[in-house]
Formats: sequence, C-alpha cells, structure tokens
Amino acid sequence: MRELAGKVAVVTGGGSGIGRGMALAFAEAGMHVAIGDIDRQAAQDVLREIERHGVRALALQLDVTDRDAVYAFAERIFAEFGAVHLLCNNAGVVTFDPMDKIKDEDWRWVCAVNLDGVVHGLQAFLPRMKAQPGEKHVVNTASIAGVAPHTEIAPYVASKYAVVGISETLYAERDQHGIGSSVLCPGNVRTKIVSSGRNRQDALGGPDGREHPDVQRQIEAGMDPLEVGRIVRQAVLDDELYIFTHSDTRRITEERFQRILAAFDRCDERSRSTSAK
Ligand SMILES: NC(=O)c1ccc[n+]([C@@H]2O[C@H](COP(=O)([O-])OP(=O)(O)OC[C@H]3O[C@@H](n4cnc5c(N)ncnc54)[C@H](O)[C@@H]3O)[C@@H](O)[C@H]2O)c1
Repeated sequence: MRELAGKVAVVTGGGSGIGRGMALAFAEAGMHVAIGDIDRQAAQDVLREIERHGVRALALQLDVTDRDAVYAFAERIFAEFGAVHLLCNNAGVVTFDPMDKIKDEDWRWVCAVNLDGVVHGLQAFLPRMKAQPGEKHVVNTASIAGVAPHTEIAPYVASKYAVVGISETLYAERDQHGIGSSVLCPGNVRTKIVSSGRNRQDALGGPDGREHPDVQRQIEAGMDPLEVGRIVRQAVLDDELYIFTHSDTRRITEERFQRILAAFDRCDERSRSTSAK
C-alpha cells in the first residue's frame, strides 16, 4: 500500500502487546482502526489510546476461534467504516511442554486461536476486501517459531508454520485477489504472551495460570511492541512478504535451511549414483 492515512485497519488481538502496537502505529499514520479481542476491557483501554490520535476507532469483543463471531465482527466493521484496507490476523496464544506431555486440549486451543483464527479472518474479510476498489493488504502474525523450530512449544510451532504457509500462498495469489500479503515473524517482544492462558476459553480448557519464569524473563527483555507496530507499518508500505524484527534470529533460520539443502545434496547424490549404475 502506498498511502495509509484515511484508510481502515483491523487488528485481532488488538487489546495487548503486538496487536496494540500495530493499532497505535497505524493510528499514528492517520488510519482508522478497528480492534477485536477476547478481553473486552483490554480492547476498550486500547480504544481510548487509538482515539487520542484523532482517528475513528472501534473496539469489539471477539473470539477468533468462533467463525460466526468473526463474520459478525467483519459485518459490523464494514457497516461502520464502509471498507477494510488492512487486515491484521494477530491474536495468538502459547503453551509450554515437551512433546510427550502436551495435552490434547492444549493442541486444540493453540491451533484454534493461532491457525483457525487466521483462517476465520481470511474467510470473513477477503471476499469483501477483494470486491472493494483500491489497495488492500493482509498481515498475518506468525513468529520466528514459524520459520525455525523451537523446543517445548510444538503446537505453537505447528500453528505458526501453517500461518507462514498461508501467507506465502496468499502472496503467490496476489494478482488474482489484488491483495498484498505479509507475514510477521518476530523474536521476543515485551508482551503478555507467556500468560496467554489468562484469556483461555472454558470450552478450550479454561483459564491457565501456570507460570514460566525463564521464558518470562526473555520476553521482558524483548522489543517494544510499538516498535514492532512501526516496522509492520513500513513493511506494508514497502509491500514486503516476510517481516523479521530481530537480526539475531537469522542464525536459527539459516541452520534450518542448511539442513534442508544438505538433505537435497544427499538426494542429488543418490540420484547420481542410481543413474550411474
Ligand atoms: N511476544 C512475542 O515475543 C511474540 C513473538 C512472536 C510472535 N508473537 C505473536 O504475536 C501475536 C500477539 O501476541 P502478543 O505477544 O502480543 O501477546 P499478548 O498476550 O500480549 O496479546 C495477545 C492478545 O490476543 C488476545 N487473544 C487471545 N486469544 C484470543 C481469541 N481467542 N480471540 C481474540 N483475541 C484473543 C489476548 O486477549 C491478547 O490481548 C501472537 O500471534 C503471538 O503468537 C509474539
């Protein structure tokens, strides 16, 4: 997108952390902003911060795992603003356990929010965005854990790899839809992600107050979410597919790709030795 002022942005999980950071960065640039969050009070608090930028704002309670609720959310936003130019599917949660200890309900909850939430956002918004004239863009929040594996968060890694794949596919289809696509892959950002169980729905296991002091310390030393929001804003203007925020996450990404390329080298070697026989 070349112009943001006066356009409409939607951010799920906008009541905290990176979602709040993006919402405020977009409002700084003169965008009108609608946010949805399962935590009604948090969304209301961010609404007031957005309004301070003199733009139109809307905050709605939303559970992204509920497909009908996401459709109603989209309906309300199109009714209020008439258009959506920038959709950010950002709501996300995490659990921490080694592979053999992960409960079924943890797999279901993390995938329901992080993956189904993105799918529901695309289903509810894309057809109307496609039909609308002018520039449009989608930002899906994945993670550096969506491009390189991390231990003890397998459901999170699975859901974020899926979000990267969906975003890459949307990017490949951009000429069909006329909609740009970015995938946000941050390293540690100073948010409430470690305590995501605070907003866990009863139907998906109920609130979880388990603490993870080691990860919490790393997250507290992380990047300011508003800085992440401003990086995303610039990437949307520059039409970038991959948005990385932390240079130090390059190494683990390179290691993964080197392992993949080494496997192709072995594959080539096998093909050569078979054809030589
Ligand atoms: N913080 C990090 O270090 C980091 C790194 C990489 C990726 N991310 C991703 O950034 C995104 C935002 O997380 P954050 O770090 O800002 O955490 P956060 O907990 O501060 O914010 C997440 C927001 O999503 C909301 N939410 C949770 N479940 C929801 C649901 N079912 N429906 C709607 N809203 C829901 C929460 O209420 C909260 O306001 C997530 O997708 C996360 O995976 C975070």
